[in-house]
Amino acid sequence: MPEFQAPVGTRDVLPPDSARWERLIALFAERVGRAGYGLVVSPVFEDVSVFERVGEATDVVRKEMYDFEDKGGRHLALRPEGTASVVRAWVQHRPTLPFKAWYAAPSFRYERPQAGRYRQHHQLGVEALGSDDADLDVEVIALAWGLYRDVGLNGVRLLLNSLGDQKCRPTYLAALREYLTEHREELCDEHKTRIDENPLRVLDCKRESCVRVTAEAPRMVDYLCDECAAHFSRVREGLGELDVAFELEPRLVRGLDYYTRTTFEFQAPALESAQNGIGGGGRYDALTEQLGGPPTPGIGFGIGIERVLLACDAEGVFPAPTAAVEVFVVDVTESAALGIVHELREAGVRADRAFDNRSMKAQFKLADRSGARLAIVVGPDERERGIAKVQSLKGDKAEEEVKLEEVVEHVKGRLVE
Ligand code: HAM
Repeated sequence: MPEFQAPVGTRDVLPPDSARWERLIALFAERVGRAGYGLVVSPVFEDVSVFERVGEATDVVRKEMYDFEDKGGRHLALRPEGTASVVRAWVQHRPTLPFKAWYAAPSFRYERPQAGRYRQHHQLGVEALGSDDADLDVEVIALAWGLYRDVGLNGVRLLLNSLGDQKCRPTYLAALREYLTEHREELCDEHKTRIDENPLRVLDCKRESCVRVTAEAPRMVDYLCDECAAHFSRVREGLGELDVAFELEPRLVRGLDYYTRTTFEFQAPALESAQNGIGGGGRYDALTEQLGGPPTPGIGFGIGIERVLLACDAEGVFPAPTAAVEVFVVDVTESAALGIVHELREAGVRADRAFDNRSMKAQFKLADRSGARLAIVVGPDERERGIAKVQSLKGDKAEEEVKLEEVVEHVKGRLVE
């Protein structure tokens, strides 16, 4: 085993698998770009308080954050998720509203690594700030839905809930707290002691004891105020209009504390239940204020790239697109390949060559392995006559002689045949 390995819980993504990453990110960029979202690139680390402010009672912030002191004594943290960073950036720069942003970026969580759960994972996300219109919720959910469709996933489930707002949630929390306190002894050890801090976290607990107790717990949907109920109703109606199928899940609270009103999660049933969340998000109408900005509603989602690709594997869809070159230049003159591959590439043709003065036989072997359709062959004789041979590497292997100065145009023509 080599002396150095990638750190526990991280992965190297290499070709050919990385071609799927490229394609997935491109599909996402294209889809959200069509909807008016612009790329945001924010630092991978922030002042630790940015994240503490948004998730003090969550595992993501309390237990799993990679925080450290830099050489200047600043207390920083690697981003555990993307929303806080984008909202912090908006509050700092105040671009005009509505502000519609997307990102493709790593996030860091010190979790117990397993398939589909990593210490560095990557999210495709959007954040839309400046409107609490329910149609925006529908737009955002439909964008994620569209991406799953783009890659050919069939079995994705969309779970939907509303968590109310500052007006109606306190009444609900009181009822939930009362119920959980009555059942305290039946809860898991961790949650016995955490009811007061944030009772919603108990609804998120996957341990059997908590699941049993919370099955009968009061539900937020029954406590929504008129405005939140109307908002939620319009979200459901809009999703119906767009044929986005959803299931109401009154216990869905998600792992971060900033959510208000609409919350949602996408699950891939083909994956293990602990890691089948392939994306999720919701509204966070109070978050900008928590980060020192003016009251500004917002909504977004994050999609885990690794998990989407695992779900694709499980469903047998979205294979790695071919990264093959189109033309391979076989040159035994030691002088022709450099110029020819350069001209081909400048002309938009995917072209490659061998290095290190390999034998003709060895170069043809590489040409076959490259997946190229055509080979351009130059030997001393061809060079003398100012020609190259263009040979098909698939099918009949037919050969043509072409003037060196015309070879790029010739090859371009052959490739569109
Ligand atoms: P999240 O549900 O914590 O939400 O993460 C979003 C997605 O990232 C998950 O659904 C999952 O696919 C993936 N993910 C999370 N943790 C890991 C991990 N350890 N290993 C692999 N994949 C993982 C958020 O982060 C919110 N910022 C989403 C959001 C955006 N809400 C509003 N706007």
